[in-house]
Amino acid sequence: MDQAVLRVEDLSAGYGSRVILHDLNFSIRRGEVFVIMGVSGCGKSTLLRHLIGLQSPLAGRVLLQGEDFWARDPEARAALQRHFGVLYQSGALWSGMTLRENICLPLAAYHPYLSQAELIELAALKLALVGLAGCDELYPAELSGGMRKRAGLARALALDPEILFFDEPSAGLDPLNCQALDELILQLRDSLGASIVLVTHELPSIHAVADTCLFLDHQSRTQIALGPLAHLLDECPHPTVQRFLRRGVSPPKESSP
Ligand SMILES: Nc1ncnc2c1ncn2[C@@H]1O[C@H](COP(=O)(O)OP(=O)(O)O)[C@@H](O)[C@H]1O
Ligand SMILES: [Mg+2]
Repeated sequence: MDQAVLRVEDLSAGYGSRVILHDLNFSIRRGEVFVIMGVSGCGKSTLLRHLIGLQSPLAGRVLLQGEDFWARDPEARAALQRHFGVLYQSGALWSGMTLRENICLPLAAYHPYLSQAELIELAALKLALVGLAGCDELYPAELSGGMRKRAGLARALALDPEILFFDEPSAGLDPLNCQALDELILQLRDSLGASIVLVTHELPSIHAVADTCLFLDHQSRTQIALGPLAHLLDECPHPTVQRFLRRGVSPPKESSP
């Protein structure tokens, strides 16, 4: 059975006539953490925008559950996008609203038949899921950076997405909060069975959460490695990939006689 929730075929991504990435081919499976990595400026965010349907391919296709996303009409595309949850870098919360209101907003828009009490209960559930039980009435400004990320995540989870996208979620977080976010990512994968697409260059995160890794190369403007982390570490011959994954690790010292 084909377990791919999202598949990219011969994708070229870019802006106007400027090709940022070309000939991308990969599948994201149900319930896996798929990590996209590469140096700054190589096109990770650009690729993400193509995956969530904010930008149309210069060439090739993005298939969501087997359906060619851009071959559908705008209404069908919007319906497909409901399978996505996106955690934006800042958390993208409305500052003038409490966390409960922030989460109820998308819920009410898509589920107009829910009562106020049901909306409040669902918002509380989403907050509990990210470890913010009881924070319903707080405003974003009252939260720490790590809590704000979690609240953004609770909002991204509002519509029970099948695929969650994170673009460098650990930016601006201290190591402890980064680790907590990694644990939360694994918990969401395991409890919700969601697929998670994560853009990151944090080695501890990559080691902690990655099921499959995609490495984008700035120079050749395409993918140069795809597979489990162990495969990239042990079998990928590309020096760029090895340098990236082994940075900060000193080579083994020669033993003195
Ligand atoms: N809206 C845009 N219009 C034109 N070029 C862009 C736009 N956004 C990003 N770029 C260019 O695309 C390239 C890849 O950017 P980006 O996807 O943000 O890389 P990354 O996320 O890997 O750091 C960069 O050279 C950047 O300048
Ligand atoms: Mg980026």
